Amino acid sequence: MRVLIGYAGVHGSTRGVAERVAATFTARGFQAEVTELAAGADAAPDHDAYVLGSAIHNGRWLPEAAEYLRRYTPELARQPLWLYSVGLARVLGEWFEKHSQNPEPLSSLCDLLAPVDHHLFAGAFERDHTSWAGHVVFRTLGGRYGDHRDWREIDAWATGIAHRLLPVPLKKEHHRSGLTQDR
Ligand SMILES: Cc1cc2nc3c(=O)[nH]c(=O)nc-3n(C[C@H](O)[C@H](O)[C@H](O)COP(=O)(O)O)c2cc1C
Repeated sequence: MRVLIGYAGVHGSTRGVAERVAATFTARGFQAEVTELAAGADAAPDHDAYVLGSAIHNGRWLPEAAEYLRRYTPELARQPLWLYSVGLARVLGEWFEKHSQNPEPLSSLCDLLAPVDHHLFAGAFERDHTSWAGHVVFRTLGGRYGDHRDWREIDAWATGIAHRLLPVPLKKEHHRSGLTQDR
């Protein structure tokens, strides 16, 4: 089974999540391909399942990831699809977490895409990722710089997906008896 693990990020933490998810899949025998959801990706997705994610910036997915979901909505809607977002809402507290459950474009595409799940992960944030004003706001909100990714949580989520994707044992083919009758 071929699974595409797509990501869009700026400073590497979302890519790290994607690579970790892929490692879980590979260890379970899936063919896991990690790809950056770059603007202008021209090959239409043709995988058996998709795990697609983005860093959250200003309450939304990055434009290239949003564009990918919009462009390939019909293809993605046909296959099992999991979505993940990486941001600091989980670090900042309940209010931010609640308001980041459905960042755009997930809220507007959710009905069409019908993902199995959307998971919000804590990401990484350093002082040099933001302006002085951003720094003041972040610290005023009680934010702490650093890598807040929870690898156990990421592994557990990926393992759960792998279990859902495991091939279902083939049922006995009833039409075989028909073959016998034909003889
Ligand atoms: C300009 C900017 C805006 C951000 N806006 C949000 C936001 O609205 N909500 C959130 O939860 N995290 C926000 N973050 C935090 C990032 O989503 C988080 O640091 C993430 O791990 C970054 O992923 P990356 O390392 O792949 O770029 C923002 C970060 C930057 C640099």
